[in-house]
Amino acid sequence: MKALQGRVAVITGAASGIGLALSRRCARAGMKLVLADIETAALQRALAQLRDAGASAIAQTVDVSDAAQVDALADAAYREFGAVHLLCNNAGVASPTLRLPAWEGSVADWQWIMGVNLMGVVHGVRTFVPRMLAGGDEGHIVNTASVAGLLTGSGPYFASKHAVTCLSEGLYKDLKAAGSRLSASVLCPGIIRTAILDAERNRPAGLGPATDVTALPEATQRWAAEFRAQLEAGLEPALVADAVLEAIESDRFYIVPAQPQLLALIKARLQDIAELRNPTLPPGA
Ligand SMILES: NC(=O)c1ccc[n+]([C@@H]2O[C@H](COP(=O)([O-])OP(=O)(O)OC[C@H]3O[C@@H](n4cnc5c(N)ncnc54)[C@H](O)[C@@H]3O)[C@@H](O)[C@H]2O)c1
Repeated sequence: MKALQGRVAVITGAASGIGLALSRRCARAGMKLVLADIETAALQRALAQLRDAGASAIAQTVDVSDAAQVDALADAAYREFGAVHLLCNNAGVASPTLRLPAWEGSVADWQWIMGVNLMGVVHGVRTFVPRMLAGGDEGHIVNTASVAGLLTGSGPYFASKHAVTCLSEGLYKDLKAAGSRLSASVLCPGIIRTAILDAERNRPAGLGPATDVTALPEATQRWAAEFRAQLEAGLEPALVADAVLEAIESDRFYIVPAQPQLLALIKARLQDIAELRNPTLPPGA
């Protein structure tokens, strides 16, 4: 999609981190904004900031794991602006149990993380794409996966992100095969300076208590502390947003703003698969 000025962008997880940076970047490109997030106070703050900066924007509190709420978001977007051209299915969650092996994590973790990270994207695609196709305009769908969607891990975060990568690759092919004016990208960020490790601030009470980090195995606690430090030193969300807009304008599918060591791990994994080798173990394993 070449011309962004005056077009309409729907962004989930817009109140913080990458979603907020995407919202700011889209506003700078002259797009109209439909901001969605589960965290109402932060969402309203983001809306006020963007409007103060001159953007035409609305905001709606949405839990993307709930299909009916995503339907209501689409209704609001079409009621306000009459069209949607860019859909960023970006909302996502992680927990300090990210690196726990699959046999140690809780069922509630699987339900919460798959519900937001995978089903949120599924609901976004199912709800918006038919309307975007019917609109007949140029458009683009950007699904936020992660380098975790290109690397290996046995817990729900990795599984959800692999599913998003796969769904997005299929979506790209299906849209092209249908000769539509829509395209798609998958966003696989590396380590980005956001609040993702505090995602349990938005964990619904019905899907298990927030993780008691002190009750985790010592190695997991150490990993979580190191990961938090890496996030604090991570890439800026604004850099990710720039990469996304550039990819939309040049119709690039894989968007991987990531540290060089993560890019090397992705290449190593793909080589393992191509050569039918067993997965390379992390250093020290
Ligand atoms: N930060 C990283 O290093 C990193 C790396 C790879 C991928 N990602 C992905 O980027 C996306 C954005 O995360 P971030 O890093 O900006 O974290 P963040 O926590 O700063 O932002 C995520 C936003 O999603 C919202 N959200 C959470 N659950 C929701 C729900 N059920 N419905 C609607 N909104 C919900 C949160 O309120 C928050 O505003 C996620 O999909 C995440 O998995 C992040």
